[in-house]
Amino acid sequence: MTFAQMFTSSIGRKLVMGLTGLFLVTFLIVHAGINACIFADLSIFNPEDNGDMFNRAAHFMGSTVLIRIMEIGLFAGFILHIIQGYMLEAQNRAARGVGYAKPMGNNGSKWYSRSMGLLGTLILLFLILHLTHFWVPARFTHAGLEPLPTATGMMHDMFGLMKITFSELWVVIAYLLGVFSLFWHLMHGFQSAFRTVGVHNNKFLKLLASAGVWYSVIICLLFAAMPVAMYLKWVE
Ligand code: HEM
Repeated sequence: MTFAQMFTSSIGRKLVMGLTGLFLVTFLIVHAGINACIFADLSIFNPEDNGDMFNRAAHFMGSTVLIRIMEIGLFAGFILHIIQGYMLEAQNRAARGVGYAKPMGNNGSKWYSRSMGLLGTLILLFLILHLTHFWVPARFTHAGLEPLPTATGMMHDMFGLMKITFSELWVVIAYLLGVFSLFWHLMHGFQSAFRTVGVHNNKFLKLLASAGVWYSVIICLLFAAMPVAMYLKWVE
């Protein structure tokens, strides 16, 4: 396969989807892990934390040059995944010509594996809202961000921004819908990505199927718990 075919042929596009998908799966583990530092403030841990652990972790991520460079790779990965996803979907539709005369329902495949384009679009809408809430203020406008002193300088109060953002019910609901879409997208995407990059051994496929379910449940429960915990003031 030539480099150009990676971006134009159906199989090449699928490979790009698989590789960028695995990259994004890794990003979500790091992102959920760092954000989970907000739970350090829960009364069972340290109610005096007041978001300090999360603010320090977010500050480290935002001020480390290597991580900022990786952020460019992350956005490139997202953009490639989205563009190739839409191209693949259009290519498949054109190849299929017309839909099945009689819908096959779950006998052919699961509803969520047939709805990856729709779920991806919902996640994209969520992502636009999400980046406007946090990434744009953190990197560019600093709107709603109080400066906090550290031993070596200042850091942003990202925890404070989260509290303000998740004080509105519609935002919490929008995030829950976004995370729900992500859950179903991952339920198919996780194992599909591994298959695409060449895992075909039956034993591994069974293991992957359950790892995919565990991964999707844990990551999405963690993400869903964040706006809820803030809205209900379990952490503040
Ligand atoms: C639902 C709970 C979530 C919360 C509370 C949350 C919180 C945050 C915060 C505070 C930032 C800014 C970090 C900084 O720049 O200092 C951020 C950035 C970002 N988030 Fe989320 N996030 C959540 C879910 C997600 C999900 C599900 C995705 C992807 C599907 C995602 C993708 C991103 C991306 C791409 C960035 C910008 C890159 C970066 O700064 O790492 N987030 N998020």
